[in-house]
Amino acid sequence: MLVDSFGRVATDLRVSLTDRCNLRCAYCMPPEGLDWLPKPELLTADEIVRLVAIGVERLGVTEVRYTGGEPLLRRELVEIVAATARLSPRPQVSLTTNGIGLARLAAPLAEAGLDRVNVSLDTLDRDVFVRLAHRDRLPDVLDGLAAAVRAGLTPVKINSVLMRGVNEHEAVPLLRFSLEHGYELRFIEQMPLDAQHGWRREDMITADEILGLLNGSFDLVEDEPGRRGSAPAELFLVDGGPARVGVIGSVTRPFCGACDRVRLTADGQIRNCLFATEESDLRAALRSGASDDDLAARWIAAVGGKKPGHGIDDPSFLQPSRPMSAIGG
Ligand code: 5AD
Ligand code: SF4
Repeated sequence: MLVDSFGRVATDLRVSLTDRCNLRCAYCMPPEGLDWLPKPELLTADEIVRLVAIGVERLGVTEVRYTGGEPLLRRELVEIVAATARLSPRPQVSLTTNGIGLARLAAPLAEAGLDRVNVSLDTLDRDVFVRLAHRDRLPDVLDGLAAAVRAGLTPVKINSVLMRGVNEHEAVPLLRFSLEHGYELRFIEQMPLDAQHGWRREDMITADEILGLLNGSFDLVEDEPGRRGSAPAELFLVDGGPARVGVIGSVTRPFCGACDRVRLTADGQIRNCLFATEESDLRAALRSGASDDDLAARWIAAVGGKKPGHGIDDPSFLQPSRPMSAIGG
């Protein structure tokens, strides 16, 4: 099992399939994009499946989430999902995507064994979308969401990041839209993970502020208080339920003490935290002929050294040198 020195057990594996993206969300990367990882440095589909199999079959991973960059840009995605769903014991398989291309891929992905999707959507206003993501793709995202429901990738969850002066006025419309369509909305506090290091604490819309924005229009009651477990979202019943909205206070209400996640980057590095400053290179080991036992041992050691928390509030906090797009949401 993947246990750290504080007794936390990592069972939720997030795998970045590519650092590339067809959007340029301001909280993630600059408008001009980034220097993408060179192809030879990316794990091949076979290498990904081998490592995921070790995680699931030997190390107790029960949930595999594919992320990016934008995972739908990875050509072998359907095959990777299918191979993951064939593992035994079968893990939960989900995807975090910006939704572009999901209209075409939702059905084949569901067929391959994908269980659920999380779609990032920060605005319902086409002009704001262009300002925030630097591409005019809102209609593609909305089509992707609808296709996910039709394909049965439910519950379809939406992730929204609110930015001061950009889309904070959309908290209420985003929730109305989600209720109307049966999507489960989660607001996420903006974290210092952008490539351009532009994050400022004052610009972050906090969990408290988000609840304040929603409370004027909805009756929110905490769902099963105290039962947050390892789930980062605090969930609220909306207007008596059953619909719920989540607020993820990654910065102001950290859930590090219950974290059950571990990450594999697109270039084969194990990261024990989004904010880790060190990585453990499984790719080099794998490519120099390491056995499954050896890879598992390296992975166990990488998780063993996990820090107690992200320390964003510590004066010594250092933003990770790699952005979210390379680490994997
Ligand atoms: N802060 C919070 N959430 C972020 N995401 C990407 N960058 C950040 C950030 N700096 C979100 C995306 C996506 C998920 C992978 O993480 O919106 O939903
Ligand atoms: Fe792309 Fe996701 Fe980053 Fe937006 S947040 S630019 S969709 S990787």
